[in-house]
Amino acid sequence: MLNALPDPARTPASLADYEAAARARLPEAIWRHFMGVAGAGVTAQENQTAFDRLRLRPRVLAAPDANSHTAIRLLGRPLPPPILLAPVAFQHLAHSDGEKAAALGAAACGALYIASTQSGHPLEAIAAAAPGAPRWFQLYWQHDRDLVRSLLRRAEDAGYEAIVFTVDAPVSMSATHTPHGLVSANLVGWPRPAPPPAQGLCGGLAAAAPRWDALAWLCQSTRLPVVVKGILDPDDARLAVETGAAAVIVSNHGGRTLDGLPATVEALPAVVAAIAGRSPVLLDGGIRRGADVVRALALGADAVLIGRPWIHGLACGGAPGVAHVVNLLRAELEIAMTLIGCAEPRAITPRALWDPPVRRG
Ligand code: FNR
Repeated sequence: MLNALPDPARTPASLADYEAAARARLPEAIWRHFMGVAGAGVTAQENQTAFDRLRLRPRVLAAPDANSHTAIRLLGRPLPPPILLAPVAFQHLAHSDGEKAAALGAAACGALYIASTQSGHPLEAIAAAAPGAPRWFQLYWQHDRDLVRSLLRRAEDAGYEAIVFTVDAPVSMSATHTPHGLVSANLVGWPRPAPPPAQGLCGGLAAAAPRWDALAWLCQSTRLPVVVKGILDPDDARLAVETGAAAVIVSNHGGRTLDGLPATVEALPAVVAAIAGRSPVLLDGGIRRGADVVRALALGADAVLIGRPWIHGLACGGAPGVAHVVNLLRAELEIAMTLIGCAEPRAITPRALWDPPVRRG
């Protein structure tokens, strides 16, 4: 009977284990879609290594008591872990149930799920997979405002609690090997956009990209809070909040858009200073261990998002794989919080770092 027991050496025990297991399982072309990076991948790599440079400050004989927890409130919603699932396009490439399995896995571990515009299942089916669970809808700007309006209404009706407007990828990311011909289930029935007049940069795509007036219009066109994803510059952060954003996400799209951008955790302190408490600030890019969550929170993030790591969980184990990835990260976060003497996320301040970087901006 002994060999009927699961082999502990084969059970992933970290996000790195899940990455290795997903690498072994996924076909090469799919792996390249999920792991694709812009240019030489310096920014994608820096997202992770910049965390390594931030050393933590241990505190002894200061272990948190029985009231300690990892919970936060975000836009009025209580969330057990300060960890959200970032929007990722075309999750059915990782698992046959795609977004439905991912949303179910997120609900099982209490993590907020952000559904991408670019989905294998329509947003209503994703919502129905995990009724009542916290979820936001990520919006890519569309060529037709009627289509944007329709997506907003559908997200509102399906119980999404915020619109995440992604602003950092206005032109094609050909470097990321997304398979050709995939059409989002959310856009079925709408005519494909005519190619823009080939005037200006990027064959006319730059001229067709959304600008600040699009954010203002969006904020007025939905009753849901609008979260702006893809901010690095503190001036952009300020403008986003002044234009009506309810929160901002410091993100460089996981290093998939422009190589040479700073790591998100490097950009974070100046954004936090610019926002000055007017809205929550979230961060994604390179979070791979619980200690990275501590580092981001120490520099002023209210919560973090993970992207590729939960896709690895989805590829290896469907909904339970997604939940396991988040639970592993949360367990590591709890150990780190205990060793630095912080009883709750709010208690994690720059003091948690051995030598916090100087804020600029
Ligand atoms: C993304 N990301 C993304 N972002 C977004 O706003 N809408 C989307 O549809 C997608 N699609 C997408 C596909 C794939 C394959 C990846 C890897 C990423 C970016 C994502 O939300 C997030 O910003 C990064 O993935 C965070 O970095 P890590 O955690 O992957 O290092």
